[in-house]
This record gives sequence, C-alpha cells and structure tokens, in this order.
Amino acid sequence: MHYSARETTRRAHALTISPSSPALDVASKIHDPAATFQVNKDPPVSLKENGSLKENGNLKENGNAKSKTSTDDPDVVKVLRKATYKVSGDTQKLRQLCTEFDAKEEDYKKRIHDLETELRNHQNESTKTHDRDIREMENRMELVAQKLEAAERYMAGKEEECNMLKLDLDTLNEENKRLKENLNDMMLKLQDYEEILAQKKTLNEQYSRILEEHRVLSEDFNRERVLRKKYYNQVEEMKGKIRVFCRVRPITESERRRGSSGSSGSSGGGGAGDASIVVSAEDEYSVSLNTQRGGQRSFLFDRVFQEHEDQEAVFRDTHALVQSALDGYNVTIMAYGQTGSGKTYTMLGTPEEPGIAPRAFTRLFQLLDEGRARQEAAVSTYMLELYNDKLIDLLKPAVGADTDRLDIKRDKKGAVHVQGAAVRSVSSASELNRAFNEGLANRHTAATKMNVESSRSHLLIAVCLSITSKQTGSVLRGKLTLVDLAGSERVSKSGASSDQLKEANSINKSLSALGDVISALSSESSFVPYRNSKLTMLLQDSLGGTAKTLVFVNASPAAYNADETLISLMYATRIKQITNNVCKNADNKEITRLKSVISKKKGRD
Ligand SMILES: Nc1ncnc2c1ncn2[C@@H]1O[C@H](COP(=O)(O)OP(=O)(O)O)[C@@H](O)[C@H]1O
Ligand SMILES: [Mg+2]
Repeated sequence: MHYSARETTRRAHALTISPSSPALDVASKIHDPAATFQVNKDPPVSLKENGSLKENGNLKENGNAKSKTSTDDPDVVKVLRKATYKVSGDTQKLRQLCTEFDAKEEDYKKRIHDLETELRNHQNESTKTHDRDIREMENRMELVAQKLEAAERYMAGKEEECNMLKLDLDTLNEENKRLKENLNDMMLKLQDYEEILAQKKTLNEQYSRILEEHRVLSEDFNRERVLRKKYYNQVEEMKGKIRVFCRVRPITESERRRGSSGSSGSSGGGGAGDASIVVSAEDEYSVSLNTQRGGQRSFLFDRVFQEHEDQEAVFRDTHALVQSALDGYNVTIMAYGQTGSGKTYTMLGTPEEPGIAPRAFTRLFQLLDEGRARQEAAVSTYMLELYNDKLIDLLKPAVGADTDRLDIKRDKKGAVHVQGAAVRSVSSASELNRAFNEGLANRHTAATKMNVESSRSHLLIAVCLSITSKQTGSVLRGKLTLVDLAGSERVSKSGASSDQLKEANSINKSLSALGDVISALSSESSFVPYRNSKLTMLLQDSLGGTAKTLVFVNASPAAYNADETLISLMYATRIKQITNNVCKNADNKEITRLKSVISKKKGRD
C-alpha cells in the first residue's frame, strides 16, 4: 500500500515516538499484531514546531527557516544535523515500518476480510441451516398442523358419527323395546298357538273318531237306506197299489154367483154355509157332498186336499212315487174329473204354480244326482195325446192326417212301446221340461187344427228310466206315467152334434175301460180287461203287476156341478173300494175307523 506524503506524515504524528523508546521499540510493537498503538498527545519537541513532517523539500524549507535563526550556532547546526540524520534514519525506518505496517495491515485486512467472508459464509451457512431447519420445522409444523387439522376433522367426523351412532342407538333401543314387546306378544301368541295345536290335536283325534263313526254310520246308513226302500215299498204295498186322492178346487166368483141364484136347487150348502158350495172336506181323508136331492154323501179317500191346499202340499204327498219309479217301479199318476174341476191344474199346473209333472221332473233329477256316485241313469220321454181313440205323437207332430202310424206294442217282458212314437233322451230336468213344453205346444196346435178342446182328449207323458248300478252292474227299469184325462162329464144327447157324441162316446168308453181295469186290479181279478181301450192298453205296464197307481179325483165345489161331482166321487170310490183282498179290506176299514177317530178328535180340539 502506498501512502501519500501527507498521509504518511499524519500517520507518523499519530505514532508515539518517545525519545526513550527508539524506533525499534515501535517496530517490535508493529511486528506484534496484538500490540496496541499508543499515540502520545504531546508530539516530540522536534516535530511540534513544524506541526507536520514533510518530504525532503518541505523539510529543507523548514530547516532553512530554522537555520536562519540557529545557523549561527554551529552546535545547534551540528545537533540539528545529527538530529536530521537521525530523523531521516528514523523516517527511513518509519517508512520501512509503515511499509511493513501496510503490508501487515493489508495482511490483516485480508485476514479480516477472509474472516469476515468466513464469518459471512459461516453466517450464511448457519442461516441457511437455520432457515432450512426453520423451514423443516415449519414444514413439520405444517405437517403437524395438517395432521392436527386432519385429526380434528377426523375427530369431528367421529363425533358426528358418534352422534349418529347415539341416534342409531336410541332408535335401536326403541326398536329393541318394541321387539321385546313384540316378542312378548309372540310368546303369548305362541302359547295360544300351542294351546290351539293341542286343541287341534284333540280335535284331530275326535275328527278321526268321528270319521270312523261316520264310516260305520255310512255303512249302517246304506244298509238302512236299502232297508228303508224295502220297507217303504212294503208300506206302499200295504197302502195298496192303487191310491185315490181327492182334490177340491176353490170356487170361482162366477160359480158363486150361479150357485147363489138357486140354479143348483141345493138347500144344504157347503161347509162354509155358502149356498154355492156343495162340496166340503171334513178332514184329510173324507169329503162330503150336498146332493141336488138334498141329501149329503160322504166319501173316504187316501187323502183329501181342500181348496186352500197348494201345489206344493199336493206334491209333498206325491213325490214318494217318484222315488218308486227310480227303484224300478212303473208308476202312474192320473187326474180324473169333469172339465174345469182342476185336472190340468193338478197335473201340469201353471208357470207360476207348477203342478205334479214339472215338480216330478225336478225331483227325479235331484234324486238321480244324489245317486250319481252309485249309479248311472238313462232317461227318455215320450208324450202322446189320445183323442177319439187315436194316438197323436206330441214330440213328433204328424204330417197331414197321418195319425194311424202309431202302434201300441208290448215286449216279452210286458213293457209297453208305442211303435213310431218319438222317444226323446234327456239328461236334465230342464231338458225334460223343454220336451214337455214342446209337447204341450204341439198339443195346442193340433187341437186348434182339429177344432178340438184340449179337455176332450187324454194327455199322456211317460218318463222311462234305466238305472245301472255301478257296483253290481244290475239294471233297474222304471217308468213314470202322468196322465191328464179327458173331462168325465156326460154329454147330453139332445143338441149334441154327431162329432160331439162320437167324442163323448170315445171318452166315456176309455174312462169306463180304465175304471174296469182299476177295479179288476183292486179286486185282484184274474182277468184285467186292458185291451178294451187304447188308454188302458197304453197303461198296461203301469197299472197292475208291481206298478203303483195314484188317481186324483178333481172336484169342483160349485153347486151347479154337484151332479158331475157326485159321479166322479162315486167312480173314484168304486176304484178304491172294490177289492177282493180281505186283508187289505180289513186294513182299510180299520184305517178308516182310526182316521175318523182322529178327525173327530181334531174337531174337538
Ligand atoms: N186347486 C186350484 N187352485 C186354484 N185354481 C184352480 C185349482 N184347480 C183348478 N183351478 C183353476 O180352475 C180352472 C180349471 O182348471 P183346469 O185344471 O183347467 O180343469 P180341467 O183340466 O179339469 O178342465 C183353471 O183356471 C185353473 O187354474
Ligand atoms: Mg184340463
């Protein structure tokens, strides 16, 4: 480092150069880096006067000035010279020292600079480390904070979850409570159920017992049923194969008027004290008639139906015969009486008040249905009209006047067949009723064509049954024949046309023949005159033998019909009472006696 002269001077002034301590001393101090420079406040006397130490020129000037004052003194000059030499030596030394010092200073500065650099580096390094540590710490802190935040979030989540779980727990507790109650209920129900099971078991046992009893009873019942049938038919036999019911119809307003006008001449009157009524039923078995001659005649029948007794009541006492037809009997139910007495009403009825025929058809199929498990049945029907001794097929109306084509035949077993007649197979009551109504319609058309009153012909409906037992394969054949006979009234010969007379004759003949046949059967005569009329020929297999016959005698209660009613009642009595069967007669008498006792008792009550 090079200092200017002034700077060097200034520095030299700053140095303490005491006379006692030579420059070596200073130099030694300068050499010692740790030495402290002490600058004396009082500059050395020699230098103080100049105030500054200059380079050679300046020093010379100052020296010249001085010399002007002290040149005179050679000692002084000598001293001065010496001092000057010394100073210049010192200066030299000082310069050297300064140079050294500068070098040292330079060195120190360098070292300081190095140290500072080192320090800075160190500081930088440590700052960096510190910063890194701080950053690391911050990162860690951030991480921890994040973790903390996450943990807090987690905790919050968990807390929420916990709350939810608490709610769930509450709900579950509720549910549990409810389930416990349910369980209790269930337990109670289970108890009930167990009781019911026990009861069921008991009931099952009872049921099994009952089933067994039922089986035994069914067997008994079947046996009983067979016996019942047998006994029923025996009872029917005892009652007689031929039974006669009397039915008195209600009086009409016009009959009442005719009766009260005195045309009948009856004085006695009927049971109701009405002059127009001459027939009255005393009880279920007897009927009395006030004759036109003023007398009173009583008649006994198997049953008497009074005017108030309806179709159902009549059928109640008739339907057993339908069962007989199913049991293999030939059954005939017929109605006898004068025109207007109620034959057609009784046998056929009206749509509102069906008579025996439609009711019997329904009953027949009811019974067949009941026995369907045990038997198979084939049912067929034919329907004929007998007018003036001519047969008319009502299920196949004749074309033109071809009425002779029908022929009555009997097979080897005695069964009657009408050759040429339509036989319609039916499988239900409604089918049978349809055939029946079709026949009635044809009858009406035929009657209109021939200008004939339907009451002047006999109507015959036959229902043939063939019943095969599923068990034994045996076949039972029965027949139910329903007959609505022509009016029994006499036709007065005066004023009657020849056709009317012929018609009346024919009716009379057939009804007489019927009466004869029934009488012969009742009296168990060896000869039964079936062949006397087509009517009896038609009924040959249904009257007599094992056949059962029921005859309704229909009677009008009107006074003006009294004569005809009397004839009808006598005809019916003849049928019923003429019999050779002593035993039966005795029975009948006893029955009659008992019946009268009963009716008298009833009357008293
Ligand atoms: N028991 C009865 N109850 C009510 N009305 C009857 C009864 N019997 C007959 N009738 C009525 O008397 C009239 C004549 O009867 P009907 O059966 O035609 O007589 P028939 O066939 O004997 O000529 C008919 O109008 C019928 O409805
Ligand atoms: Mg009639």
